[in-house]
Amino acid sequence: MNTPEWQPGSWRSLVAAQQPDYDDPAAVEAALALLSGKPPIVAPGEVDRLRADLAMAAEGRRFVLQGGDCAERFEECTASNLTRLLQVLLQMSLVLTYATRKPVIRIGRIAGQYAKPRSKGVEVVDGAELPVYRGDLINDMAPTVEARHADPKRMVEGYHHATASLNFIRGLIEGGFADLHHPQQWDLDFIEQSPDSDAYNKIIDAITDAVKFMTTVGEGGMLETLRRVSFYTSHEALLLPYEQAMTRRTAGEWHNLGAHFLWVGYRTCQTDGAHVEYLRGVRNPVGIKVGPNMPTADLIEILDRIDPGREAGRVTLITRFGANRVGECLPAYLHAVGHAGHPVVWLCDPMHGNTRATADGHKTRHVADIFSELEQTFEMHASVGTCLGGVHFELTGSPVTECVGGSGGVRAQQLGDCYQTACDPRLNGAQALEMAFLIARLLR
Ligand code: PEP
Ligand code: CO
Repeated sequence: MNTPEWQPGSWRSLVAAQQPDYDDPAAVEAALALLSGKPPIVAPGEVDRLRADLAMAAEGRRFVLQGGDCAERFEECTASNLTRLLQVLLQMSLVLTYATRKPVIRIGRIAGQYAKPRSKGVEVVDGAELPVYRGDLINDMAPTVEARHADPKRMVEGYHHATASLNFIRGLIEGGFADLHHPQQWDLDFIEQSPDSDAYNKIIDAITDAVKFMTTVGEGGMLETLRRVSFYTSHEALLLPYEQAMTRRTAGEWHNLGAHFLWVGYRTCQTDGAHVEYLRGVRNPVGIKVGPNMPTADLIEILDRIDPGREAGRVTLITRFGANRVGECLPAYLHAVGHAGHPVVWLCDPMHGNTRATADGHKTRHVADIFSELEQTFEMHASVGTCLGGVHFELTGSPVTECVGGSGGVRAQQLGDCYQTACDPRLNGAQALEMAFLIARLLR
């Protein structure tokens, strides 16, 4: 393949989908110059460590849990929101460790998940046509023409919010989130309401026993292992000028130091597009969203560009077909990637193929569809002889009512009670933790 030399800005000569129309180029340049001089948000050594962890996931020795908001909002960057999200992710990861008998790699969609691809450029609100909301990194959600104006200063604000978020998360983790390891202290009301409560209680007992055992014998390294968890950040690499400004060279290698893990979205994954070009040059582990409209040949071409060295840990394929399509679609991709020899991590995103609208206009997802796609995906990997290396959820620690179902029983009529998402519907804290229990019941 003829691949001209990569530069942090080489994407600029290609077509970049889903970019905002900024009307003040000088203001864009000023914001980018400012960002380029700021300290990075993560360190190259952390990014490289995640790539090494993911290499183990590609070999089936680790399991990945990636989760967080569809669209993070600047105004939701608060101690309580971040604490609740981290709590639910850590609790899920403990259940998944039990379920898979593998150490879990935790990756938050957090501290930078501020830019959203949209299917349409405009929307009609109360009879008026407005540019769509593209995420806090670009414009404001309020339905007015002024608010929807793309403002380059938001890139600088995004950097500061990402920094504040990750600083707080690092503090929580360094300070020891010890209570998280005691399921007695988790909010497990959903278990009592579940027809599966016996199975769930057995899982709780097993985890409690394991933690007690480790605490008892843990004078050596084990207690420390329990207390100190690793946690990585991720977001969709969508707004390329911002991503370029976060790109730094260390010891001859380029890293994007705005997050540990970056993915290319389903709508920006053109083989000859700007997003693939940008991502091929940074050493960060890269995710690629794979859905029903992507020809397998295109996926292989993209893999050849991003992972010419066939390096385990370099690429994670995040499949999102929907419960109805996964059976017919997934096997062809598993075979094609296997033939091409790319040692990828396979993740299942059971959210984005299962979105539907209710009669009263709420975008929602059903817990049953989400779990069905997961279950089918586990089965299909097993029958092809590949390994499902992890799961990817849109979730929040807050008690929102955006997805239907779960033992807590959010019903379609209740969606309006606490529907807060800035983009796609998220599992609430109880639904998310229950999802980990469902996986544990499936696998054990
Ligand atoms: C997302 O992960 O929020 C998203 C937009 O997904 P996809 O690109 O798979 O549609
Ligand atoms: Co989404």
